[in-house]
Amino acid sequence: MTKIYFAPMEGVTDYVFRRVHRRHFGGVEKYFIPFLSPTHSLTFSTRERNDVLPQNNTGVPAVPQILTNNPDYFLSVSNWLSDLGYAELNLNLGCPSGTVTAKKKGSGLLRYPDMLRALLDGIYAHSPLPVSIKTRIGYESTEEWAQLISIYKQYPVHEMIIHPRTRMEFYNGTPHPELCRELPFPFIYNGDIFSGEDCEAMIKELPCTTGFMLGRGLVANPALAQVINSGEELCRESLLSFHDDLYREYLETWPESAAVGKMHLLMKYFSSCFENGDKVLRVLRKATTCEEYENAVYPMFRDQLIRSNPSFRLDLLLS
Ligand SMILES: Cc1cc2nc3c(=O)[nH]c(=O)nc-3n(C[C@H](O)[C@H](O)[C@H](O)COP(=O)(O)O)c2cc1C
Repeated sequence: MTKIYFAPMEGVTDYVFRRVHRRHFGGVEKYFIPFLSPTHSLTFSTRERNDVLPQNNTGVPAVPQILTNNPDYFLSVSNWLSDLGYAELNLNLGCPSGTVTAKKKGSGLLRYPDMLRALLDGIYAHSPLPVSIKTRIGYESTEEWAQLISIYKQYPVHEMIIHPRTRMEFYNGTPHPELCRELPFPFIYNGDIFSGEDCEAMIKELPCTTGFMLGRGLVANPALAQVINSGEELCRESLLSFHDDLYREYLETWPESAAVGKMHLLMKYFSSCFENGDKVLRVLRKATTCEEYENAVYPMFRDQLIRSNPSFRLDLLLS
């Protein structure tokens, strides 16, 4: 059994998505919740609160993620999350977004080793729960990785989830897995695993890997973790039934325009599953109401061929 975690993807893998995915597909051991970003008042946005409320995560093995550079904020949130019943937490040191890095958070903190140490000192001395880290391998350059590792080594990191790109690389080019050898922590590899073959190749390249975190590839082919772990592939019926449950739950949760907007975004990923993914998106483009969306989506599910073992297509997401 390969240990597979669902990556946090803000705006994509919200609690409705995670819950419905859990009902329809197997193979995922943990679902990471998109980040909570605490402020001094420790109040959260509606999105953040809804994402962690236990009643929204029933039956889903979920791990909250915290984005901060302030140990006191981390500890206050971690006490609250511990009271809510969570068993572990994750620290975000990977987010490449300019608004986040400008505040010295996410991968922005990787440029400030002293601040990073102070944060980790506070967290690992006092956190009520085990804490894993999700990190990039540097801000500007891969040469920063050796120093970062030497810092991380000093703490009892529960699991180290590494996206082996620098912040400046965002999601461009290819990752640098060769820098993830001989790590002193349980190591979860993240980045560009879009098929069972990608996963096998990475196990060969990095035998020290204890598991994988999958993001875009697992949204595009929601059966990917299940394919890797039991061989059960995606078919038209399983994709359609997943789609229908998501659509129904978003309509129950959000106003029509927001629910249809969310389904548009998800279809940008799911279009990777169709033989003519670009045509699928062209047909959908103008649909804004439920009626228009349904008139576009259902003929497509009926008429378009589903690819065997589909994998994520960046060109469709960006189209
Ligand atoms: C739309 C989007 C939202 C994301 N949100 C988060 C987040 O909230 N926290 C986080 O640690 N990473 C976030 N990520 C990064 C993913 O967790 C993951 O590291 C990245 O997609 C690379 O993995 P992949 O190649 O398997 O997709 C996000 C990525 C995307 C594309």
